[in-house]
Amino acid sequence: MVQIIITIVIFFLATRLAHGQPSSDEVSWAKRVDTGSQVVTTMQFYFHDTLSGNNPSAIKVAQPQSSSNSLGGFGNLMMVDDPLTEGPDKTSKLIGHARGMYGQAAQNDLGLIMVLSYGFTEGIYKDSSFSLLSLNPAMQTVREMAVVGGTGLFRLARGYALAQTYWIDPTTGDAIVGYNVTIATYI
Ligand SMILES: *[C@@H]1O[C@H](CO)[C@@H](O)[C@H](O)[C@H]1NC(C)=O
Repeated sequence: MVQIIITIVIFFLATRLAHGQPSSDEVSWAKRVDTGSQVVTTMQFYFHDTLSGNNPSAIKVAQPQSSSNSLGGFGNLMMVDDPLTEGPDKTSKLIGHARGMYGQAAQNDLGLIMVLSYGFTEGIYKDSSFSLLSLNPAMQTVREMAVVGGTGLFRLARGYALAQTYWIDPTTGDAIVGYNVTIATYI
């Protein structure tokens, strides 16, 4: 009996040591829940889109030759490498980058086609990314966008992002956008 208990205790300790402290991998901005058939990850982070200054994170790479029919800048295309942070502040902890493009794809209102990879650098999400491909109706308070795939922990991702502007400078277009993302995966 004593031997069995000792064996159980040793096994328990060995398992703990092998897996390390589970909390060391956890991050404050994301939560993974294994539902049995799939893993649901919810995330909350902030996206910093800076057009102004000497070191913008979003730059215009193409624009239409003629702007006569370009309400809201129809045809303008931006390349971005926007920092993602834990909190809304610029100095908040960096957790990754959103890299890719967005362009004004609507003729009569503000509708940005977003083609971006959100790659992470923190905790268990380091080197994992998800891909977002969606129209961003930027004038809406909350914009819903589709997550269409991913890598690493986000392999075979399906999901959506809800984005809401936290802060915007109407003169420069610089903005900080809050993201709530829900993703389902099998791993
Ligand atoms: C994002 O999640 C936070 C915390 O649950 C909530 O307060 C906020 O309203 C959500 N924002 C959106 C756009 O869903």
